[in-house]
Amino acid sequence: MRTLAPEILIPEDALARRVREMAEEITRDTPEDAEIAALVVLKGAFVFAADLLRRIPRRVRIGFLETHKVPSRPGAADFAFTHPFRIEGSDLLLIEDILDTGVTLSHLLSRLRARRPARLRTAILLDKKPRRTVNVDVDYVGFEIPDKWVVGYGLDDDETYRNLPYIGYVEEAS
Ligand code: IMP
Ligand code: MG
Repeated sequence: MRTLAPEILIPEDALARRVREMAEEITRDTPEDAEIAALVVLKGAFVFAADLLRRIPRRVRIGFLETHKVPSRPGAADFAFTHPFRIEGSDLLLIEDILDTGVTLSHLLSRLRARRPARLRTAILLDKKPRRTVNVDVDYVGFEIPDKWVVGYGLDDDETYRNLPYIGYVEEAS
């Protein structure tokens, strides 16, 4: 069994401060009369999205999708919406927990672009830059982090730790 309290990488107060700043940036970039179509990538982004979106004083429509990599095709990721969600013509804001190799996000972005949103922005809480293999441009990034397996604030290790209020790290399972 894993330890109950992984080492702290980003404490709660730093998360709250940065998420608030990100919300301010997004708000500044969004006309007052615009409607944001926020698309939350499950499961990891659910905590980040809840905190972020509550700090954006704009009209927001929220949808969820789930992604998984396709083992037989290393450059691909599959995704599915939990409910129908209109993308065409909308001011889309994709909310994701972490950018690692970039495979999942780059695949997702090209599939979403094909559905012709009026604009497509991305908000990512964590950027694990040393691991990048695919180049992806993102609009709002919370923190750059080292190559560690991080958990908490929505992120998991084998489905545990999502409820930690901070970002911690665990040794990678052998
Ligand atoms: P990528 O396609 O390699 O960029 O993988 C991104 C996805 O891998 C994220 O959406 C997470 O679900 C997962 N992931 C990558 N690194 C971590 C980590 O350190 N902790 C938890 N999940 C991670
Ligand atoms: Mg994920």
